[in-house]
Amino acid sequence: MTTKATAEALNTLREIAQFITTDQSTEHQIDALEKFIVLCQSAVEITPDVCFSAFSGDTELTQGIAINPAAAAQCVKDYIRTIKFVNAVHHAITQQHALHPGSTLKILYAGCGPFATLLLPLLALHCEKEISIHFLDIHEESLSSVQTLMQFFNFDQLRLHYHCDNACHFQAPDPFDIIVAETMQKALEQEPQFMVTAQLADQLKPTGIFIPEEIFVSLALQDRETLVFKNKSKPLLALSCQCPLFSKLNNAANQNSLRLPLTQFHIPELYNPVQQRFVLQTRIQVLNDIWLYEDESDITLTVPAFSLDNALPNQVWHAQYYYGSYPCIEFQHLSL
Ligand SMILES: C[S@@+](CC[C@H](N)C(=O)[O-])C[C@H]1O[C@@H](n2cnc3c(N)ncnc32)[C@H](O)[C@@H]1O
Repeated sequence: MTTKATAEALNTLREIAQFITTDQSTEHQIDALEKFIVLCQSAVEITPDVCFSAFSGDTELTQGIAINPAAAAQCVKDYIRTIKFVNAVHHAITQQHALHPGSTLKILYAGCGPFATLLLPLLALHCEKEISIHFLDIHEESLSSVQTLMQFFNFDQLRLHYHCDNACHFQAPDPFDIIVAETMQKALEQEPQFMVTAQLADQLKPTGIFIPEEIFVSLALQDRETLVFKNKSKPLLALSCQCPLFSKLNNAANQNSLRLPLTQFHIPELYNPVQQRFVLQTRIQVLNDIWLYEDESDITLTVPAFSLDNALPNQVWHAQYYYGSYPCIEFQHLSL
C-alpha cells in the first residue's frame, strides 16, 4: 500500500466517523456504515454474512456461542446498535482523555470481530492521542483481519496488542480505562456476555467505563392479536460491572448447576393464555443517556418466553439465569 493510498483511506475513515458521531440523519449514518464495510473490504477478504448454517464456523464455548467472523462483520448492519455503540465509545474516549490528560488511555476491546467496528472508525478522530489498545477475540481470523486493517490505516503509532483468547478467562496485568464488549444476543441468550462481563468487570479502573454500561431484561405480557405489551416487570436481570450475581458464581459452579437465582413472581390473576403470551424484553444503557431501546436492534428484539406457555393465573414461578454453553433465562413453576 502506498503512502497516498493510506492517507486517502484514513481520510475516508475520518469522514465516516464524523458522519456517525455528528450527523443527525440516521440515513447518512447508515450510508457511512455501508462505506465502512466497503472500505474494510478493500483491505481484508471478509464478507459480512448472516451465516445461519450449522457449518458457519461459530465456536461453542462452555460459556456460550462466539459467532464466526463473517457473522461478526454482519453486526455492522445492525445499524442503530452500531451507531449508538460507536457514539458511546466516542464519548468514553473523550471523557477518559479529559479525566487523565497526558496519560496513555488503555482500552480493551473484547470480541472485536474482523472489523473492530465499535472502535476502528473512531481511531481516525482520536489517533493523535496516546492510546494503547488490546484487541481480543476467540477467532484468529478476526484478529488477523483487525491487524491488517490497523496497518492499512497506518495506525502503527498507537500501541496495539492482539489476544486470541476466551474473554471469559482473559486476565490482563493492568486495569483498563475503557472496556468494550458486545458479545450478546437478545434477552442475554446464546452468547457469553454475562460471563465476559463477570470476568472483565474487575479489570476496569475505578474511574473507568464499561460499554455497555447496563443491560436490562424484563418480563412482559403481550396481546397475541394487537401485539401491545403490558404488565412489564422490574428487570429480571440487570447486567453491569457491579452485578451482585457475580458474587454467587463460585457457589453455583461448585454445585455444578451453572444457574443463578433471579426472582420469584406471581402469574397475574387476569392472565389469559389464549389472548396473551409472556415475552422477554431487552433494553441497554450503552453509556449515560445513550440507550438502545426494546426492538430497536437485533440485540434488543422481544422474544417469547415459551417455557411460561403452560403458566396459569396466580401460580408462583421462579426465574434463573443459566450461564452454561447456551446461556438464557429459564423459568420453573414452584408448586407450593
Ligand atoms: C456479536 S460479535 C460483535 C463484533 C463487533 N465487536 C461488533 O460489535 O460489531 C461478537 C464477537 O465476539 C467474539 N466473542 C464472543 N465470545 C467471545 C469470548 N468469550 N472470547 C473472545 N471473543 C468472543 C466473537 O468471535 C465475535 O467476533
